[in-house]
Amino acid sequence: MRFDVFTLFPQAFDWYLSQVHVRHAVELGHEFRLTNYRDHTPLSHLQVDDTPYGGGAGMVLRIDVVCAALEAVFATDAAQVRESCRVVELTPKGRQLDDALAADLAGGDVVLLCGRYEGMDERVTHLVTDRVSIGPYVLTGGEVAAMAVLDAVARKLPGVISNPESVVAESHSAELEGGGEYPQYTRPADFRGWAVPDVLLGGNHGEIERWRAQHVQKR
Ligand code: ADE
Repeated sequence: MRFDVFTLFPQAFDWYLSQVHVRHAVELGHEFRLTNYRDHTPLSHLQVDDTPYGGGAGMVLRIDVVCAALEAVFATDAAQVRESCRVVELTPKGRQLDDALAADLAGGDVVLLCGRYEGMDERVTHLVTDRVSIGPYVLTGGEVAAMAVLDAVARKLPGVISNPESVVAESHSAELEGGGEYPQYTRPADFRGWAVPDVLLGGNHGEIERWRAQHVQKR
């Protein structure tokens, strides 16, 4: 699948895109593309934002700038892009990201639109299929939220995470009925008197499975 991220700060993604599982995804044929709205603005002086109609604090990302960037990349009317892929605005006003939404987004190409300043002109609703929030708080921009979405979606793609079982039986997946994952321990078996539960050291896989099932919800 292809991920297209539109942002004013493409360099914010350098670290994330250098991560091993992203490189893995690229080797498997998935694509991560970054577009800077500013590179496609039709306005003079590389302008991308403006003051809000009706007054108020801050600046708003202009809808003509968002459309120009989408049209430059997709070579089609900006409002048509959502007919062939999911177009997601990152906004604190959106539906909260959860595992089910991540799995759903992994079903096809995804465009992520990052806002900045006070957000985007509301007419972005003509362009998007989804408005997504990563939680009930306001970030200074959509970039951190976009990385959360990229990460949650990319790890759903077959082969991206080396051990597929860890993707299925992990926290908040449907497999665990929305509950937390069971507790995990590694060496040393006893550290400062903090001991690993005996059952996990015993090698009886049936008992271990039962113990894990009992402890799934308790975290
Ligand atoms: N942009 C600013 N805050 C955000 C949030 N909580 N989720 C998604 N995008 C945002």
